Amino acid sequence: MANVAVIGAQWGDEGKGKVVDWLASRADIVVRFQGGHNAGHTLVVGNETYKLSLLPSGLVRGKLGIIGNGVVVDPEALLAEIDRVRAQGLPVGPESLRIAENATLILPLHGALDRARETARGDARIGTTGRGIGPAYEDKVARRAIRVCDLAEPDTLSAKLDELLLHHNTLLAGLGAETFAKQALLERLLSLAPRLLPYAEPVWQRLDEARRAGRRILFEGAQAVLLDVDHGTYPFVTSSNTVAATAAAGAGVGPGAVGFVLGIAKAYSTRVGAGPFPTELFDATGQLLGDRGHEFGTVTGRRRRCGWFDAALVRQAVKVAGIQGLALTKLDVLDGLAELKIATGYRIGAERFRHLPAAPGAQAAAVPEYETVEGWAGSTRGARSWADLPAQAVKYVRRIEELVEAPVTLLSTSPERDDTILVRDPFEG
Ligand code: IMP
Repeated sequence: MANVAVIGAQWGDEGKGKVVDWLASRADIVVRFQGGHNAGHTLVVGNETYKLSLLPSGLVRGKLGIIGNGVVVDPEALLAEIDRVRAQGLPVGPESLRIAENATLILPLHGALDRARETARGDARIGTTGRGIGPAYEDKVARRAIRVCDLAEPDTLSAKLDELLLHHNTLLAGLGAETFAKQALLERLLSLAPRLLPYAEPVWQRLDEARRAGRRILFEGAQAVLLDVDHGTYPFVTSSNTVAATAAAGAGVGPGAVGFVLGIAKAYSTRVGAGPFPTELFDATGQLLGDRGHEFGTVTGRRRRCGWFDAALVRQAVKVAGIQGLALTKLDVLDGLAELKIATGYRIGAERFRHLPAAPGAQAAAVPEYETVEGWAGSTRGARSWADLPAQAVKYVRRIEELVEAPVTLLSTSPERDDTILVRDPFEG
């Protein structure tokens, strides 16, 4: 029996929510290991719709949720989310949620800096969620971050705030933004401490015990491989590693504990925020994909950019993240299109590439090379077996498998949980 890591294989919003929810119902523990409340998904259980940003989705299924050390935690956003889901009848408390004592905190000054920088970038902005994710990770790597455990030591907290504010207030003032007063920040953090500390513990110990007891662990990724700070379309990326290997470091387990790596990909491509998107469509087809796919960001509410499936980029994601199986989502959005295109590589000037080179100039200049595939007239929506799918739709999926060099182990054919074709159970390894 394997553990499973679920990660996005494109630029996020691949429909992870449904797949993670299904997997969470079969797991014992669900662990978030990177990102913060920049993520977002909607889970529909019975008559309730839960919108989660930071809480591991397993909580909705009554499973133990763990927020690993690799996550950046905004304490106020977390407590507000806990209050929200509690008000919906979900009993979230220290018995169902554990937070790594060594996780980094996002403070109000991080969001302020994130937004001030984006404003200063003008047209060159990254399109961040403005939630302070990048600045919090910067502080972590610079060794000046406030961590969950610091809330238990007022003296440590006070000294660390001095260093932090020296840095941030200088930056904020330089950007013409409001600065922060130490005492107010200290008091705010100390007032949150009694509500947060009961959740804190060395989660690596609990995970070690769970592993030895044969419990099933689901590692729930946020964002996606093309937003990875190393492997994505840098600098238009998020500030964490989103590849499956991060599940180990971001939770405190060895690489062997991560188990099966399931990548989620849409049957086409979308992106929120700025940055290279070689297969982006600016025509009526792009509009149609956006309308049919309801392509609006859960966190940002912004309309997502839409385009053809980019097999070259997904293949790259498969390789760098070690994806062993793909969950392909939203195939039904392509129903009825006369023909479909799949990018197999790029032309940059006179040169041809099977991958997207790292240099920003090359990424911006990359022109996709397409393979055209016949569309299908029938509907794929709600299909629960291969036999329910039009023959051309099966061909499209098979071609994707060949090009990305990974099998489709799960096909999702509508937002409904049971409208899924399961080829291989990821927990069986
Ligand atoms: P940040 O993570 O807020 O710093 O934003 C950096 C980039 O990642 C921006 O392009 C965001 O739109 C994108 N991003 C962050 N979180 C998500 C997500 O959950 N889905 C899709 N894009 C995201």
